[in-house]
Amino acid sequence: MTKQVPSSTPAGSGSSSGGSARGVVILTAAVAALGGLLFGYDTSVISGAMLFLRTDFHLSDAQLEFAVGIALAGALVGSALAGYSTDRWGRRTVLLATGVGFGLFSVLSGLAFGLVSFSVARLLVGACIGVASLVTPLYLAEMSPAGIRGALVSLNQLAITVGIVVAYFVDFALAAGRDWRWMFITAVFPALALIAGMLVLPESPRWLARRGFRDRALQGFHRLGRGDEAEAELREVEEALQEEQEGFRALFQPGFRVAVFVGVGLAIFQQITGINTIIYYSPAILRMSGYPSAKAAILAAAVIGVANVLVTIVSIFLVDRLGRRLLLLLGTAGMAVSLGLMGVAFRHQSAGTIIFYEMIAYIVSFGIGLGPVMWLLISEIYPTKIRGQAMSLATLSVWGSNWLVAGTFLSLIRAAGAAGTFWIFGVICVLAFAFCFAFVPETKGKTLEAIESYWRGFEQQRAR
Ligand code: BGC
Repeated sequence: MTKQVPSSTPAGSGSSSGGSARGVVILTAAVAALGGLLFGYDTSVISGAMLFLRTDFHLSDAQLEFAVGIALAGALVGSALAGYSTDRWGRRTVLLATGVGFGLFSVLSGLAFGLVSFSVARLLVGACIGVASLVTPLYLAEMSPAGIRGALVSLNQLAITVGIVVAYFVDFALAAGRDWRWMFITAVFPALALIAGMLVLPESPRWLARRGFRDRALQGFHRLGRGDEAEAELREVEEALQEEQEGFRALFQPGFRVAVFVGVGLAIFQQITGINTIIYYSPAILRMSGYPSAKAAILAAAVIGVANVLVTIVSIFLVDRLGRRLLLLLGTAGMAVSLGLMGVAFRHQSAGTIIFYEMIAYIVSFGIGLGPVMWLLISEIYPTKIRGQAMSLATLSVWGSNWLVAGTFLSLIRAAGAAGTFWIFGVICVLAFAFCFAFVPETKGKTLEAIESYWRGFEQQRAR
């Protein structure tokens, strides 16, 4: 199998957009990426609020676990519904509604008066997280010129990592006053910014073209600064659309089923290689490794969060230059090595600082590759007509496996020991490396339509 997606028409390069055009697109990206910020913030804000919820609502261990995990269940539901909704009502409308949902349900989480009202509000916040996790990268991919699409879509991952760190600092600042309610309510500010931004941003021209609104689609490409290329880009989109089938069955037609397999595989590997054991449990891991105090462990966890942000910025600079495949391969290899070394360190009861550096190496490897590149690839490898539904399958896989890993990590440590657990994740990283090597095509610089025709020709090419 050739891993290189061939180029398409000259209009497809998209790399000729000038400086001011880039400005428009980057503004669009910055606003839409607030969806990612809310995703990151709302998944991690709970860690700081947990202790106060337990005492204020008089929760048992099981009730607390339920209250913490309920948002992940909501995200599963949200990602299942998001594909259909965004295909039907448009990317912009759904993002706008998600902003409203985030604002409303975050406030309700903060005002909750007991386990039940809190869980309902967090379930709904979770649904918004699920929707945002799908629609944000999808919208960004459809708005971006091919030459800088990698960087723009990866702003979503940057925003996720920033959201995680901001939640950490907000929790830290409010913990002294036991003000857990404001930890949740604070999310209303980025939600309002998302709503305001989406009110002025345009709908995705690719979605408009699909719904037959040709003039508005053309206008959209012009607004995005495509200039002379707008008409040619629209024609390329329309030609691709003519070949596409609608509906869930289309996901399994020859060629595209391989794309669906690649997307779901990447989504599962992004989670079962253990990222959220580090994101959700790093203070606990550091304490297990002998870190002297909870405070020192929490501070070290914050450094890991900041490293995650910084390396994502590096990845954004590299992804349209070095390509998706190389970053994935480097990243999964680095993750495997770091986890292997973490296992060795735990086995030999090495100093906590060694484990801390190995965790940094792991997060750097994740942030350069699988972190941003998974979201990027699942937003660019599917044809326009099935993009929403195919992304639903992939994001469902993300949230399902996230739930599985987060929910079993502590039991795994009890059963296999810390060394054994990290070695298991290390072996899974080796499998992820092999998967990326064997199946992931290079999509750098290609239009979404060129990527689509690559899959179309994929099975014929293999049959030959
Ligand atoms: C993953 C999340 C993870 C985050 C950490 C995202 O790409 O999907 O599960 O918590 O990265 O940066």
